[in-house]
Amino acid sequence: MKKAVVVYQSKHGATEKYAKWISEELRCDLYERNHIKPVDLKQYDTIIYGGGLYAGGVAGIDLITKNFDQFCNQDLVLFTCGLADPLDKDNTDHIRNSLNKVFTAQMQEKIKVFHLRGAMDYAKLGPVHKAMMAMLHKMTTKKDPDSLRDEDKQMLATYGKTVDFTDKATILPIIRYIQEL
Ligand SMILES: Cc1cc2nc3c(=O)[nH]c(=O)nc-3n(C[C@H](O)[C@H](O)[C@H](O)COP(=O)(O)O)c2cc1C
Repeated sequence: MKKAVVVYQSKHGATEKYAKWISEELRCDLYERNHIKPVDLKQYDTIIYGGGLYAGGVAGIDLITKNFDQFCNQDLVLFTCGLADPLDKDNTDHIRNSLNKVFTAQMQEKIKVFHLRGAMDYAKLGPVHKAMMAMLHKMTTKKDPDSLRDEDKQMLATYGKTVDFTDKATILPIIRYIQEL
């Protein structure tokens, strides 16, 4: 198998958990995003980047987008980690649309994207994230209930609670994809 590395940015731990599981399965190197420089990623054939989803954006994705020219001869894999259910196509289309705002056409073609489901513990959120979620909750409750997407309904149902949808089995498609490269 080609030489791979997993790099991740995780605020609340779910992306980190997936990144560790993937690196263990692939027996490859693992780095937190701020602990590796782009130049040090050049030695790998495959770069797997994982980031938590925050207001539609992938945490730390600029590591890939800003340095894309340096990585164009490598295989690039991205996994997102969010609360929205990735089995719901509406949710993955939504993430894809957000990604396409930061990805050029070339990036969209080259980067293989997977979506994994994360976790949230409201009691552990910092003040900024707590305020963002409170605002989102307030805005969502004001919407016409018939217009709510599944993601909105789920957010309302789990608001203020602790939820954990992390599941090791869901990394399998990523592992298979990388092993077949
Ligand atoms: C302020 C805030 C915004 C979020 N925005 C999204 C989002 O747009 N889409 C989503 O699926 N999950 C969203 N989430 C849920 C996180 O993606 C989820 O908690 C994930 O596990 C975060 O990854 P981490 O645990 O590695 O930090 C949000 C969470 C917070 C606190």
